[in-house]
Amino acid sequence: MEVIIEPTAKEVGIMGANIITEHILRKPALVLGLATGSTPLITYNELVRKHQDGGLDFSKVVTFNLDEYLGLPPTHPQSYAHFMNENLFDHINIDRQNIHVPSGLALDPHGYCESYEEDIKRSGGIDLQLLGIGRDGHIGFNEPGSSLGSRTRVKTLTRETVQDNATFFRNESEVPRFAITMGAGTITQARRILLLASGASKAEAVAATVEGPVSASVTASVLQLHPDVILIADEEAASKLERRAYYRWIQENKSQVNGVISRQIRERLGM
Ligand code: GLP
Repeated sequence: MEVIIEPTAKEVGIMGANIITEHILRKPALVLGLATGSTPLITYNELVRKHQDGGLDFSKVVTFNLDEYLGLPPTHPQSYAHFMNENLFDHINIDRQNIHVPSGLALDPHGYCESYEEDIKRSGGIDLQLLGIGRDGHIGFNEPGSSLGSRTRVKTLTRETVQDNATFFRNESEVPRFAITMGAGTITQARRILLLASGASKAEAVAATVEGPVSASVTASVLQLHPDVILIADEEAASKLERRAYYRWIQENKSQVNGVISRQIRERLGM
């Protein structure tokens, strides 16, 4: 896992947007996995700005959202479909047919979850998956105890998650208890994963994700087994990482790696 530590949440968000932009420029028909929550908001604002001021083109981009509350229609102000429209889709030139957010109103949620998996497969698989992290280390709505090989399915939310998300509802009793979420196994099939974390409340989850054992108790820890994960954390979220100094050292020396390799090649070729 590549760990990048930035001073504040703002830099985290902007760096996230820059990485997504590089991917879209390289592959205009990028299959992009998206997340909700407060963490990716700065990233979405920045992507909107890049589209409006710099012409970043989303016309061929295909998106798959991680999750949705079961029972909420897309028009509900707290649904993730509504969140995505408000914060990203309504402000960029994405083709509506290319947007996939799990439906909270599916009549047969279990069959629907299988079809969501099929849709991801048919699109060629997710190239880049954006993730936030819950205080208990969950990704998507894969609460502690979720199978690390799980696929898209209905999950019961923990009390902690219901309480955390209550701030967005009028009161806790209005927060749905169930959600449709991509599984940990679905998420780790993405070719590249970009995990963003900000704020002190995420520090323990970040430390457990990067340095703890791989465990269903912290579902984000499954990312240790993925070959291409970038974690961008602000100082607060990174504050409980034991090897912080080493991660910084890696970043400081990163630009020199290519120089060393090309010097070796030149020497080998006698140039
Ligand atoms: C919810 C979402 C997650 C998100 C998490 C953290 O549980 N399902 O995808 O990462 O909240 O949200 P926030 O970024 O607001 O802390």
